[in-house]
Amino acid sequence: MPTIFKRIIANSYQNFENGTGSLTDEVAYRILGKIAFTHAVGAFRGSSPLRVCDIGCFLGSSSVRWLTMGQALAADQSQVQVVGLDIYESNIQKATETYRHLTDIQFRAMLRGGAIPRIENRGYHLLFAAFVIDTITSFEDVSVLCEHMVESLEPHGKIYVLRLHPNGVKSKASFHDYHIESRANWQHGDPLNIQISNQESKTIHLEDTFWETSRICDIFTSLRCESEPLSVSTTGLPSMQEYFTREVLSLGLPLEMVEWHVPLYQIIQVKKQ
Ligand SMILES: C[S@@+](CC[C@H](N)C(=O)[O-])C[C@H]1O[C@@H](n2cnc3c(N)ncnc32)[C@H](O)[C@@H]1O
Repeated sequence: MPTIFKRIIANSYQNFENGTGSLTDEVAYRILGKIAFTHAVGAFRGSSPLRVCDIGCFLGSSSVRWLTMGQALAADQSQVQVVGLDIYESNIQKATETYRHLTDIQFRAMLRGGAIPRIENRGYHLLFAAFVIDTITSFEDVSVLCEHMVESLEPHGKIYVLRLHPNGVKSKASFHDYHIESRANWQHGDPLNIQISNQESKTIHLEDTFWETSRICDIFTSLRCESEPLSVSTTGLPSMQEYFTREVLSLGLPLEMVEWHVPLYQIIQVKKQ
C-alpha cells in the first residue's frame, strides 16, 4: 500500500475501530459533516452551543468526528456539544473511557425503542445516524426510532441518515473489499449480508437489512418533515461533486480511483418544520 494511504489511515481519528480501515468511509463522513454543519451554523446563527446528537455511536469515534468537524466549521460562531448514544451500555462505557480527555462530548446509553435523552431537556439542532438504520431488523423499530429522532429535534433542525447503498456495495477498493450478493433490485426487508475484508485479510460479516429509501422518507414525511435522499456519488448533485472533489484532493488521493465511481453511500436529509 502506498505510504500516503497508510499515513491517511493512521491519521484518521480512530474511526477504524471496527477494523475495516475504509478511506471511502472517511470521505463520506467528511462530506456529510460539511453539509450538515454548514447548514446548522447558518440556520442557528447566534445559538450557542449547537447541540448535536450521534445516534448509534458504537465506541464513540463517529461522535468525536462530529465534534471535531463541528468545532472547526462553527469556529467562533458557536460552541458545539455532542451527545453520543447507543443501546449497549458496554459501548457507552468504552466510549466514555476512551474519550474522557475530551470536553464538550458525553456518551449515554438509551433504551431500544425509548425516547432520546437530551441535554438539559433541550432539543438538538443536528442529529446524525451513521450506519445505524440498516442494522435494525424490524421496520417497526426503525419507524419508532425515526419518530423519537424527530421529537428530539429543534424546529428547523436536521437529521442526516448515512447508509451504505446496496447497489453500490459490490465495489473493490484498495484497502478492503465489500462483498455482497449482487442483485438488480433490492426489496424492502431483504437481508443484506455484507462481507468486508481489509488489507490484512481480516474479515467482518455484517448482517444488515435493506430498507427501501422511499419507505424511510415516508416515515419522516408522515411526521411532517421534509425528507430527501442525496447520493454521495460522483454523478450526484453538482454541489456533491464539488464536495467530493475538494475532499478527495485534500486527502491527497487521485480523483480517478475506481472506488469513487460507484454510489457507495447514501445520505437521507430530513428537515423538521
Ligand atoms: C454499525 S454501528 C455504527 C457506528 C457509528 N455510528 C459509526 O459511524 O461508526 C451501529 C450502532 O448502532 C447501534 N444501534 C442499533 N440500533 C439502535 C437503536 N435503535 N438506537 C440506538 N442505537 C442503535 C448499535 O448498538 C451499534 O453500535
